[in-house]
Amino acid sequence: MQIIRSVSEMQALAAALHAQGQIIGLVPTMGALHEGHLTLIRLAAERADAIVVSIFVNPTQFAPSEDFNKYPRELEADVARCEAAGADYVFAPPNEEIYPKGYSTYITEEHVAKPLEGVSRPTHFRGVTTVVAKLFNICRPDLAVFGQKDAQQVAVIRKMVIDLHFSVDVIVAPTLREADGLAMSSRNRYLTATQRVEALAISRALFKARDMVAAGERRADRLVAEATHILSQQRRIRVIYVALVSRTTMEPAREAITGESVLTIAVWMDDVRLIDNLVL
Ligand code: PAF
Repeated sequence: MQIIRSVSEMQALAAALHAQGQIIGLVPTMGALHEGHLTLIRLAAERADAIVVSIFVNPTQFAPSEDFNKYPRELEADVARCEAAGADYVFAPPNEEIYPKGYSTYITEEHVAKPLEGVSRPTHFRGVTTVVAKLFNICRPDLAVFGQKDAQQVAVIRKMVIDLHFSVDVIVAPTLREADGLAMSSRNRYLTATQRVEALAISRALFKARDMVAAGERRADRLVAEATHILSQQRRIRVIYVALVSRTTMEPAREAITGESVLTIAVWMDDVRLIDNLVL
């Protein structure tokens, strides 16, 4: 397992791997890896020869009021987790390598990024697309694996890949859940025991909608109303949005279409922001 810190070293490595005919798989992360990330690494390892995990807490996707400073950083433990999951390289650049002094170029997707997360976090996806485009240019992956947990991020990245002609196959891994249904997230560690119990309402709301669809209910207003009702019964939860949308465009759907519609939820659990979704 090799740890790479500089952009030039990573670019040289990617060129050498391509020259040897190896397929490069990239798993972009911000570290604090949990079992969900390890699934992404294992999926990449099934499809590529050389697996690169990037670990970079990207400042441009956090608003000044958000948790950039407190975001967990545990590189040594993460490297061990990557190795155990089958990664070959960890690309963990310091901030100055990615955003040197005077840095001033950003990528903005202007449609899919606008609703939902884009409303409450207006600069977030600009940071995500910018850093992911950079990671694609630095690591030169043939494929990159992202988690369905960040449904809108996946849709925005797919759109960027199409619009900017990146030759990267975007692979999406299903959300991994704890045994009680809570979607795995690096931010779950912020939750107290009481908050964690209340947070289960999020997956309960999604599963209830899935059951309603299985029983024949397709109307978005009814699915959203039921999910919102379940969430609103928790004292600590403030709903940011509950929406049934197209998984590719993030535009509102009037009816659930199998495999195409996603019910997506964002809430404040006291001061912790949680998101989750389910493709219906
Ligand atoms: O999903 C994440 O962890 C981040 O948004 C990503 C894709 C690594 C970009 O910083």
